[in-house]
Amino acid sequence: MAKTAIVTGSSSGIGRASAIALSKAGWNVVLTARRADALRETASLCDSESPEKCLVLPGDVTDEEFVKKLFGETVSRFGRVDLLFNNAGINSGAVPLEDISLETFQNVISVNLVGPFLCAREAVRVFKSQNPVGGRIINNGSLSAHTPRPFSVPYTASKHAITGLSKCIALDGRNFDITCTQLDIGNAMTVLTQRMGQGVPQPDGRLIPESTFDVEHVASAVVHLASLPPDVAVPHFTIMASKAPFAGRG
Ligand SMILES: NC(=O)c1ccc[n+]([C@@H]2O[C@H](COP(=O)([O-])OP(=O)(O)OC[C@H]3O[C@@H](n4cnc5c(N)ncnc54)[C@H](OP(=O)(O)O)[C@@H]3O)[C@@H](O)[C@H]2O)c1
Repeated sequence: MAKTAIVTGSSSGIGRASAIALSKAGWNVVLTARRADALRETASLCDSESPEKCLVLPGDVTDEEFVKKLFGETVSRFGRVDLLFNNAGINSGAVPLEDISLETFQNVISVNLVGPFLCAREAVRVFKSQNPVGGRIINNGSLSAHTPRPFSVPYTASKHAITGLSKCIALDGRNFDITCTQLDIGNAMTVLTQRMGQGVPQPDGRLIPESTFDVEHVASAVVHLASLPPDVAVPHFTIMASKAPFAGRG
């Protein structure tokens, strides 16, 4: 029987590429994000042989009622959930701390942390109640879960918090065949990173172009992680442009 994945933020970028790759690997895929048209476009790029294995459910991951509906409709349609890819996320640009509004900070925390919490909570409820029990969560962190870029308080705080969420899910899920991976990506080419070719602020104040890599490699990694059996856990997985300035000082 095909396994079932929910991919948040699958209307573009990493989420779209991963959903398409999971679909082509035989998974039932539930596509969710706010933009219905873009989700339908993702669906049209999924496995064309089996369109019935793809479900489009538009909504906002920060909306508790929507997230409950997302998981409820997934279980009604496919019977269970095997994978949640908590991928939806936003950035707020390079702004010095003293100029960041509370609204901006709360918005980034809502999408990047509250959304993954709400989705993980529903996933765990389903994982514990289904037979066989268990499932896998992949939380999309970032290199910013380890080291900040200049002037990135909301994004960096949200991604550091994903580390705590991921570790707690892995610990509390251990006895229920629930595993959790924090996937830390650096410079995959998407809408979020397209400005990198023009130059990215560095700690010493310079603006330097940074190398990127094809998002398809992230999608392949997600399919690999998703295919592992429940007795195999991958707590951390980092994938990045090999020339991205992450290792070292400054
Ligand atoms: N690209 C990289 O190199 C990189 C590096 C580190 C981490 N990441 C992480 O990877 C994830 C995806 O980023 P990306 O590069 O693929 O950027 P992207 O193309 O902008 O994708 C972001 C996705 O999140 C969705 N989204 C945003 N707000 C949402 C909300 N409130 N509710 C539901 N969906 C929402 C967007 O869809 P809608 O607008 O349709 O809602 C979109 O599908 C993010 O968590 C990001 O932090 C990316």
